Amino acid sequence: MSLDIKIDVSRAMSDAVGEEHGITKAELNEIEPRIAEAHAILRKERADGVYGFWSLHEDHKTLAEVKQSAESFLKRGYENLVILGIGGSALGTTALVTALRSKFYNLQTKRGRGGCPRIFVMDNIDPDSFKKMIKLCPPQKTLYNVISKSGNTAETMSQLMIVVDVIERKLGKDAVKDHVVVTSNSRGQGASASLLHPVADEYSLKSFDMPVNVGGRFSVFSAVGLFPAAMLGMDLDALFDGCAAMDTRCAKGDLRENPAYLRAAVQYLADTRKGKVMSVMMPYSDALRDVADWYCQLWAESLGKKANLDGGEAYTGQTPIKALGATDQHSQIQLYREGPNNKLINVIEVGRFDSSLKIPNALKFLTDLDYLRGKTMNKLMAAELQGTVDALKLSKRPVSRITMSRVNEHTVAQLLYMLEAETAMAGRLYNVNTFDQPGIEEGKTIARRLMGGKG
Ligand code: PA5
Repeated sequence: MSLDIKIDVSRAMSDAVGEEHGITKAELNEIEPRIAEAHAILRKERADGVYGFWSLHEDHKTLAEVKQSAESFLKRGYENLVILGIGGSALGTTALVTALRSKFYNLQTKRGRGGCPRIFVMDNIDPDSFKKMIKLCPPQKTLYNVISKSGNTAETMSQLMIVVDVIERKLGKDAVKDHVVVTSNSRGQGASASLLHPVADEYSLKSFDMPVNVGGRFSVFSAVGLFPAAMLGMDLDALFDGCAAMDTRCAKGDLRENPAYLRAAVQYLADTRKGKVMSVMMPYSDALRDVADWYCQLWAESLGKKANLDGGEAYTGQTPIKALGATDQHSQIQLYREGPNNKLINVIEVGRFDSSLKIPNALKFLTDLDYLRGKTMNKLMAAELQGTVDALKLSKRPVSRITMSRVNEHTVAQLLYMLEAETAMAGRLYNVNTFDQPGIEEGKTIARRLMGGKG
């Protein structure tokens, strides 16, 4: 059976870029026992239900609930779906939308009755864009999905306050339930009670639960990402199947058989042994550009830690950078080839695009363009990727490659699941808590105090 996702770390090895910059086979062999040990811990944590992201695709109850709700909301013909949320409550949805709907989706969708709504992911508190969104998405035509695991994030709660006020003023209190859906942590189980629960009660809102053992940045396959996906007509079963397929591949403890573990080992060794303190994620596909953004949060927030699991000082984590091929060949690659050799460059290749586009025999008077005539844009994209990877090798820059057969629900779910499993393993190798974010919590508290709140 051919694999939908293939990884190739050969260009990150010493054979390709030399021992100073590339990982040796001995270094990979050396880390194997640590991977095996970490694998056992991760499996036990999963079995004990400590971290729930591993098994979200087995939650068929939530899947059915999401499908049924989306079906009923879609019948009401909303023209717009607006997501109110930030960080892990927004980035997964954006990644799915960009990957699985066209770049021009909002301009193309037959919104309203008979079609899926436009989508706007409002993941900031910029007053200019929020005001424009309210104008563009009047409440009578809009469904707002407010997403916050903690249910007390100031940015998201301020967005919700503005939206509820507009709905109440324009349509009346009773209408709020027809225009707001809540996604927040499960009631009664979390340490901190979500403020979205009393809101849901007050207005009788449809409310989705987010498992308490799933962190924001690992929540894309919970109702957080599933409900917006269903509202846009995505194939949720294929998403779940994709997760399951990658889950099977990631169940193996041997790093040579487990793509997530091999990638984690390479990134970790590149950082700690070869000084590759930055991790660039560069898909050669417009559809995957926001997967790079989602990855940046996952990698940064999970691994950037001051303390290790033994209570000592760690100061770990590579700085993730998003890039887009071929676009950023004309912006960042100069630095990557000739600047400091401190990056591991991850490229994502798409084996087959949905379309094939031939470059016609136009501009015949320009013989300099003969090399393009009759070829496809697909072939040019592949050549650009290979050219960059080969050029990076010439400057001894390590590259880790992911090849996806094509971009669809099944493969995108595999990719995201693999990157989550990779992050979980990397956290173990760095010996840090992958799943907390104390550095962010402090900033939230200070901001709340500055606004006159209790902190
Ligand atoms: O990954 C995380 O946990 C964070 O990025 C959160 O998603 C983010 O801070 C938003 O938090 P909440 O969903 O509680 O509003």
